[in-house]
Amino acid sequence: MDISIIGTGHVGLVTGACFADLGNRVMMVDDDRRKIALLKRGGMPFYEPGLEELVRRGVAQRRIRFAASIKDAVDHSLIIFICVGTPARPNGEADLSAVERVCHAIAKSLRAYRLLVEKSTVPVETGEWITRTCQLTIRRGVPFDVASNPEFLREGQAVQDFLHPDRIVLGVESTRAKSLLLELYKPIKSPVIVTDVKSAELIKHASNSFLAVKLSFINTVARLCEQVGADVVKVAEGMGLDRRIGRAFLDAGVGYGGSCFPKDVAAFIRIAEKLGGDFQLLKAAARVNDEQRRHFVTRVRETLWNLNHKTIGVLGLAFKPDTDDLREAPSIDIVRMFQEEGAQVRAFDPKAMAHADGVFPGVAFCKDVYETARGADCLVLLTEWNEFKELDFARLKKLMRHPTVIDGRNVYDPGALRRLGFRYVGTGRGHAPH
Ligand code: UDX
Repeated sequence: MDISIIGTGHVGLVTGACFADLGNRVMMVDDDRRKIALLKRGGMPFYEPGLEELVRRGVAQRRIRFAASIKDAVDHSLIIFICVGTPARPNGEADLSAVERVCHAIAKSLRAYRLLVEKSTVPVETGEWITRTCQLTIRRGVPFDVASNPEFLREGQAVQDFLHPDRIVLGVESTRAKSLLLELYKPIKSPVIVTDVKSAELIKHASNSFLAVKLSFINTVARLCEQVGADVVKVAEGMGLDRRIGRAFLDAGVGYGGSCFPKDVAAFIRIAEKLGGDFQLLKAAARVNDEQRRHFVTRVRETLWNLNHKTIGVLGLAFKPDTDDLREAPSIDIVRMFQEEGAQVRAFDPKAMAHADGVFPGVAFCKDVYETARGADCLVLLTEWNEFKELDFARLKKLMRHPTVIDGRNVYDPGALRRLGFRYVGTGRGHAPH
C-alpha cells in the first residue's frame, strides 16, 4: 500500500521505515528541511538500533521517499500518519499545536478521500478536534476519516516493538478506515484491538501511566528495603512470578525519564483535572519519581560523607540504554545536584555524549569507563548500558582514589565487588551506606 508519514522523529521514522520494510511505498515528510536533507543524504537524526539499515534499504529499494511538503504526502496516499511531537506545556498539558497545524495543512490539500491517522501520543478527544479542524477547512463534500493508532515503541527497541508488538490498537469510526488499517497491518501477526477513537487514545495514556505507577511502586519498595536491609531485586523476583503482576518494569533504579513517561503522566493528570477529576495516584507516582533522583544523591552523599571537592565518575547519561536520548534523563538532575554540592563530575556514555553539549555544563566528558574512573572518589552507574556490565574492576581499583561503586540500576553483584575490595552501594539492596 501507499502511505504517508508526517513527522520523522522517533515514532514517524521508525513507523515509515518498518512499513516500507513490510513492502509498502512510504512518503515521509518533515517541516525541518535540515532533517529531510540529512535523511536524503543517508544520515540519521538520532540513534536507534537497526533503524539506519532499514531506512537505507527502503531508500535503495525506492520504497521510501523524503519530502518537505505536506501536499506531496496528501497526493501520495490514502493513509496519512500524523507523527509530530506533542510536547508538554508548563502546566503538563500536551501541546497539540503541531498536530493542529499539520491537520490544517492536510485538510487544505484534500481533493479526495483520505484517512488521517493520529499516531502521536495525544489526549483523549484529540480525534474530535482533528475532525472539526478538517470539517472547517476541507472543501465541501470531500470525504475523510480520522483514526487513532497509538504506538508502543520503546526507544532502543523501537524496530523490534513495531514489527513484533504485543498488540495493535485501531481506533476507527468507519468500516472504510477499519478495512484500510487492517489491510496495512495484515503482515504483522499480533493481536489487533479495534475500538472507537477515544478508547484507543485512552489505551495509550493509560498504558504508559500504569507502567510509570509500577515503576514508582517498586522504587518506593526499594526505599523500604534500604531501611530494613532487604534486597529489592529478590522482592521484585518474588513479586514478578505472580502472573497478575509480571516481572517486567520492576527494576528499581534512579527513576524513569525519556520523552514519554514524564510527559504522558503529566498529560493524563491534566486530562483528569480538565474533566473535574483528580488523578491522585498518578500525581503520587510522578512525585516519587522526582524524589528518587534526590534520594539517590543523598545515598551518594551518605556514602562519601559529603560531596564538596569530591570527584564523581558517572557511567551513563542517556535516560536508558541503547539510545542517545537525553530527554528528561535522571542524569541531568543528578549531575546538577552533585555539582551544586561542590563535586567535580566526570562522565562517559557510549552514545548520548554526542548530544550532551549544553546539557551538562562543567562535566568532564571521558572517552571510556577507565578514563572516567581516574582519580574518582566513587563511580556512579546511572544507565545500564551492556558495556558497563563486564568491567575490569582490578584496573578500576588502581585508577580510583577510593574503590567505591554506587549502582543506580543494580547492575553489579554486591558480593563480587566486595570480594574485590570495593565498597558497593546498590538501590534498595541492604542498609543505607553509613
Ligand atoms: C515508553 C513505553 O515503554 C513505550 O511503550 C511508549 O511507546 C514510549 O514510552 P521508553 O520511554 O522509550 O518507552 O522506554 P522504556 O523502556 O519504557 O523505559 C522508560 C523509563 O523507565 C526509562 O527511563 C527506564 O530507565 C525506566 N525503567 C524501565 C526503569 O527504571 N525500570 C524498569 O524496570 C523499566
